[in-house]
Amino acid sequence: MCGIVGYIGRGNAKEVILQGLEKLEYRGYDSAGIAIIDDNEIKVEKKQGKLENLKNHLENMNFDSHIGIGHTRWATHGEPSDVNSHPHFSNDLSIALVHNGIIENYSILKEKLKNSGYIFNSETDTEVIVHLIHSNYKGNLLEAVKTSLKELRGTYALGIIHKDYPNEIICTRKESPLVLGIGQGENFIASDVPALLKYTKEVKFLKDKDIAILKEDSIVIFDENDNLVDRDINTIQWTYEQSTKNGYPHFMLKEIFEQPQSIKETINRRVNNNIIDFSDVLSDDEIKEIDMIHLVACGTAYHAGLQGQYALRDIAKTNSFVEIASEYRYMNPFVNNRTLAIFISQSGETLDTLAALREAKSKGAKTLAITNVVGSTISREADSTIYTMAGPEIAVASTKAYTTQVIMLQLLSIFIGKKKGVVSNNKEQEYLSSLYSISDKIKFTLENTDIFPEMADHLKDKVNGFYIGRGLDYAIAMEGSLKMKEISYIHTEAFPAGELKHGSIALIEKGTPVVVIGLQSNLLEKTISNIKELKARGAYILSVGRESSTELREVSDNFIPVKDIDNIFSGVLSVIPLQLLAYYTSLAKNIDVDKPRNLAKSVTVE
Ligand code: G6P
Repeated sequence: MCGIVGYIGRGNAKEVILQGLEKLEYRGYDSAGIAIIDDNEIKVEKKQGKLENLKNHLENMNFDSHIGIGHTRWATHGEPSDVNSHPHFSNDLSIALVHNGIIENYSILKEKLKNSGYIFNSETDTEVIVHLIHSNYKGNLLEAVKTSLKELRGTYALGIIHKDYPNEIICTRKESPLVLGIGQGENFIASDVPALLKYTKEVKFLKDKDIAILKEDSIVIFDENDNLVDRDINTIQWTYEQSTKNGYPHFMLKEIFEQPQSIKETINRRVNNNIIDFSDVLSDDEIKEIDMIHLVACGTAYHAGLQGQYALRDIAKTNSFVEIASEYRYMNPFVNNRTLAIFISQSGETLDTLAALREAKSKGAKTLAITNVVGSTISREADSTIYTMAGPEIAVASTKAYTTQVIMLQLLSIFIGKKKGVVSNNKEQEYLSSLYSISDKIKFTLENTDIFPEMADHLKDKVNGFYIGRGLDYAIAMEGSLKMKEISYIHTEAFPAGELKHGSIALIEKGTPVVVIGLQSNLLEKTISNIKELKARGAYILSVGRESSTELREVSDNFIPVKDIDNIFSGVLSVIPLQLLAYYTSLAKNIDVDKPRNLAKSVTVE
């Protein structure tokens, strides 16, 4: 949801910023822009559309600049266009800034600034900030920024430059993410770590309302009370190579193929001497206190929560309920100090999830985050955090982050079950050996991808489709359907297999594709009856089932086999073919798989 980058040092600002923006393009690709200081003048270049357009535009422009800021946009206020692109600049071109977030009181400020003679070029909320800083500038940029921030309502991460300050970038944040990268004779700002990995692994995370002044050789930080503060230096474990396509045509395909490894690493992270351990985040006493677990998340992470709910009920025999984060606050959830509220978020920055976390915390819940990004806002605000070991996930459609979240929730369920006395030592070992077998079983699917292009060819011209399953398979149907919508633009809906006949079966006609997930062996007979009802009405059945499911294979027009595994862990296996099906359909439709229209990977507005 908008990515910002800033650079000050001895290197070429344009190159560093463009490279950083490339790594942040997953945050939005409606437009991109750059502002640099060259020869005591601010130069701004911006272009609608993907970063590629800006790069082509800048190709023959050589700037002698060592300071600058850049932005990649996911439009909120104002359509995608050159003029609405960031950086925005003051009328006299003395100040330029980039922004991630939303200024809620922008229309009041805009009116006021217009009355004082400021001319607005764009329809964005952001432009008010630059004019406001300009109006408050009395010869001291830092003071002008501080005064202006007091007038802003909303969320922001900001990178600000001034032509008379060619040796400093000022940045600040409130609720939107911002990381400072520490280099040798150079410093950086970025919305997320992948933008920095090529240059440094040493970072500082700003706290809300911190203001930092970056120079080549120094970083000075003030907190919201204007005290000079220091923030810890963190060393990032991810490598630069992990943030590249590494020979794959798309990040999504690479990330699908990384799952055997990321799952193994996620399990290893929590298993010591064959014993699952989460004692660093949940004490025995805390577990004794829990009488309800809430799982809260958005999008794909919500679907991981659904799988978690099954695991907590089935394995840990614990009352749990899962809710979409943007709805959590409005449904009056029963929360008290015996509630464990788990917030699942790949990015750790999703504002809906963060707002739900704050709500649960204020009502006394113990809060636990499951996230992939060290230092992210959700990880810092939750009482404790469990990190998935997925490594950087760049494709907008989530794959490896999802499966590692599910594995974490399954491990956690076993741990809680053991502490509650409902999982024996032997059972723990049985569960663990199943979980460890998953990586090899996924490889079976990954080694047989040649079946997907033909299926994708069949699906690519369809307008509608359904995904169905019973029990846990229904949760997988929801994720499969979301993947297909996100990257192939085919409208699909997921239904419990038994529910379609209660209305929506009216939409089935000859050739309507229905993807069936049939892994729950105890429910398969019923699901097969539902398939027959659909086939009788002309549906085209594409099913995912166990290799051994002869009957399912026979009633399906297309069958994708996966290896045998216990019902409760089958979701991580059955979702892989659904990821691949969506991927190949997207390819067949010539869609930009990694950057589907209208989406952003990290959504930092409500
Ligand atoms: C956005 C993305 C989804 C993602 C969701 C939650 O909507 O497009 O792919 O699942 O946010 O993201 P999070 O980072 O909280 O897991």
